[in-house]
Order: sequence, then structure tokens, then C-alpha cells
Amino acid sequence: MRVSRPVAILALVVAMALPALAIEFKSALDDSPIDVSPIKGETFTDAVKSFHDTGKNPYVGNADAIAAGKKLYNDNCQVCHKPDGSGGMGPNLVDDIVVNARANTDVGKFEIIHSGAAGAMRPFSKRGMTQDQILQIIAFIDSLKK
Ligand code: HEC
Repeated sequence: MRVSRPVAILALVVAMALPALAIEFKSALDDSPIDVSPIKGETFTDAVKSFHDTGKNPYVGNADAIAAGKKLYNDNCQVCHKPDGSGGMGPNLVDDIVVNARANTDVGKFEIIHSGAAGAMRPFSKRGMTQDQILQIIAFIDSLKK
């Protein structure tokens, strides 16, 4: 079927006017909205854009991302969560027991790593960590689960 040009243009305009379906990220502390705009110098990767839309981490199972995530985890997280994620000063990240309600979902992990939780769990976006790096770390943590 041929669609006339005015009809095609109208359809495009309508599609663009519809609000984009996107995940609303909320603080683990008080459910207030999180500002997920880029930090200084950050350019969103396709993985980050897709995650904002779907809440699904495109890096799950991706060997390169998991290797990069492992390095970031060892540099930034293992001091409190242990190299195998079994927990120490911070909670176990690989069992099913969570401190924060959404921490067993990728969106919840992202919210907590990006914007912090209680006590020693600081917001890593304030320490220069990009959202792409956060997704790599989450892919690594997921890979630790038995
Ligand atoms: C200085 C210690 C410390 C460091 C470093 C740290 N965390 Fe945490 N983390 C904590 C503590 C303490 C909590 C518990 C927070 C709470 O009670 O809300 C926590 C909570 C979490 C949770 C939620 C767990 C749950 O069950 O609710 C995740 C996910 C997490 N951390 C991931 C990370 C990642 C990834 C990194 C590195 C980028 C990191 N943490 C670095 C101490 C730390």
C-alpha cells in the first residue's frame, strides 16, 4: 500500500509528539526522582540510552562489558562488598536478600550506584562515574550470581 506524503508526515509528527516511554529512576532513600542527566564530559552511549528507555541492561552477558565492569568493581566496590560480592561492610550483592527494596533489579542497582543509599553507600555519579560504567559494573555483579 502506498501512503501519501501528507499522511506519512502527519504520522511522523504524531509519533514525535507522543511522550517517550522512559524509566523514572528514584532514590533508594526516599523515592524522590533522580536526575540522570550526564555528568561533566559524559556522552551517553547507546547502552545507556536503551537502559533509560527499557530498564534492561544491554551489557548483561557481554564478555567485554563484564571484564570492564570487574575492573571498575575491584577499584571502587570490593573494599566493602568483597571481590565475589558476598559482602562485608556493605551487604551481600549476590544473594536474594536486599536492604533496599529495588536492589535485586538492575534499575534498583543503577539507582543505588548512581545516587547512593544509606550510610557508606555513596553516589558514584558524584565521583565521576559514568552511567555506561555503572551498567558495566551491574553486568559484572550479575555475572557473579550462581
Ligand atoms: C565504603 C563502603 C562501600 C563502598 C565502597 C560501596 N558500597 Fe555499596 N553499599 C555499602 C553499604 C553500607 C550499603 C548498604 C546501604 C543501605 O543500608 O542502604 C551498600 C549498598 C549497596 C547496594 C544495595 C544492596 C541492597 O541490598 O540494598 C548495592 C547494589 C551496592 N551497594 C553496590 C555497590 C557498588 C556497585 C559499588 C561500587 C561502585 C559500591 N556498592 C561501593 C557500602 C559500600
